[in-house]
Amino acid sequence: MTISPLQKARYEYEPKLPGMLRSGIKNITVKEGAPTTSVADQEAIAALFPNTYGKPEITFVQGENTAPNEKKTVGVILSGGQAPGGHNVITGLYDALKAANAENELVGFKGGPSGLIEDDFIVFDDDYINKYRNTGGFDIIGSGRTKLETPEQFAIVDEVAKKHGLDAIVIIGGDDSNTNAAVLAEYFAANGSNTKVIGAPKTIDGDLKNDDIETSFGFDTATKTYSELVGNIERDANSAKKYWHFIKVMGRSASHVALETALETQPNICLISEEVAAKKQSLSEIANSIADSVEKRAANGDNFGVVIIPEGVIEFVPEFSTLIAEINELLAGAKADEFNALPTWKDKYEFIKNGLTPASFEVFDILPENIQQQLFLERDPHGNVQVSLIESEKLFSALVAKELEKRAKEGTYTGKFNPLHHFLGYEGRCAFPSNFDADYCYSLGYNAFLLILNGFNGYLSKISNLSEPAAEWVAGGMPITKMMNMERRHGEDKPVIRKALVELEGAPFKFFEANRDKWAEETCYLYPGAIQYYGPTEVCDLTTKTLKLEQEK
Ligand code: FBP
Repeated sequence: MTISPLQKARYEYEPKLPGMLRSGIKNITVKEGAPTTSVADQEAIAALFPNTYGKPEITFVQGENTAPNEKKTVGVILSGGQAPGGHNVITGLYDALKAANAENELVGFKGGPSGLIEDDFIVFDDDYINKYRNTGGFDIIGSGRTKLETPEQFAIVDEVAKKHGLDAIVIIGGDDSNTNAAVLAEYFAANGSNTKVIGAPKTIDGDLKNDDIETSFGFDTATKTYSELVGNIERDANSAKKYWHFIKVMGRSASHVALETALETQPNICLISEEVAAKKQSLSEIANSIADSVEKRAANGDNFGVVIIPEGVIEFVPEFSTLIAEINELLAGAKADEFNALPTWKDKYEFIKNGLTPASFEVFDILPENIQQQLFLERDPHGNVQVSLIESEKLFSALVAKELEKRAKEGTYTGKFNPLHHFLGYEGRCAFPSNFDADYCYSLGYNAFLLILNGFNGYLSKISNLSEPAAEWVAGGMPITKMMNMERRHGEDKPVIRKALVELEGAPFKFFEANRDKWAEETCYLYPGAIQYYGPTEVCDLTTKTLKLEQEK
């Protein structure tokens, strides 16, 4: 296999562990904190998790490790979307297992949670694992989005765990996967299984964070990758001075990725979905605020700019959500066939006009025709509109163009508006992990083994104090049930890990808010450049601005 010079060099990189994990497994012991309670709905969560609820937070400290060092076999899966650093969680786990006892084994189940059900696995050895050290991607064993959530699935997993003699399963995933990890942990405990379950917090979206988890892994590298690209586009815009770039960035419903990218690059505009929802902004209000920036900059002779749009923004526009709900209703069941049989778009348009409430039709009618058609043509197997497929970067640029035309006629705007569109998503999910993610992930994996060695079940591997150098990081574990509350999902009340959206009172948003008017009018672009893996620590070991602002005391 031919590998790039960087891949070769990264094999040699030695990830930094928290200081307290550097003294050898025999010299690390557990310090128990107080019993925990869930963030909300304590009674309901306690009743659903009688065996795993209320356990204490724990921290690892120096001291004699008295846990018996018998042979351990551990299973691991990667779950959900790729995030840089996943390989290092596995290499950290492997190294800790082998450091404790050379007989220990790590079994990787392939293709995500389905690998556990289908018992599709590989037993890692040095040769195999060494090819994945400090690399991006999840290709070491692959990932998948099968949900492990039914008792039937748990019973199969129990069988598979017994077959391999698994002492523990490590689930590397986001909020949903770790919710399922907690339910599996409870199932094992309730059914007298010896297998424990430990989670590791993954997602580029950054929405698995709370008082205990300072950041999910992958967010650092993905946002650095997007920031590099946005910075490059800004520099191009500032050189050519003729385009407005509308850039959608991944991140599902939360806007952490968009906000962090904006903090790193200082674009002219960045929409924040959570603010759109809080202020109940309409599509026209949003488009008008972008048009205001275009107009002001044009008056200064700057007919160029950069707009960042979070992936999920249109779902947060109340009038748009109502429109989507009405369309779903309008095309439910047999009515979809009636609609599909109409020969021309003109006929379909009339059908839509007659079927929507006047308020929703007004929203529909301001959309460009290609987006109107997308709403009706690209529907999921249940017939629902696939909001995530809507090209919101094109939607907003079209609405801005329309508004500017109006302003041109009124004589307030005399500039030129040439929009270009980009979507940054998959580009960031498998980058070589930054030093931060390489270190953080390796530590999460290493630490997961210590939780297993000490017999913990239903815990999330926790590394904190992350805005300080790695030597000062704190290693430990938190019961997953502590992060849970009850939420209505698909018509049922379910215990889930609470998703973290951007907090409008939080320091990262406040910083953005304090600066954005200046950025909207002037050219204040920041060019972060590519992730640096080698060189001075102030260039190579930077954490995100989000984390820095959140941790500033
Ligand atoms: P996870 O929540 O599983 O970490 O995935 C994050 C994400 O990258 C989102 O940002 C994006 O909306 C989604 O996955 C894309 O999913 P897919 O890989 O299935 O296209």
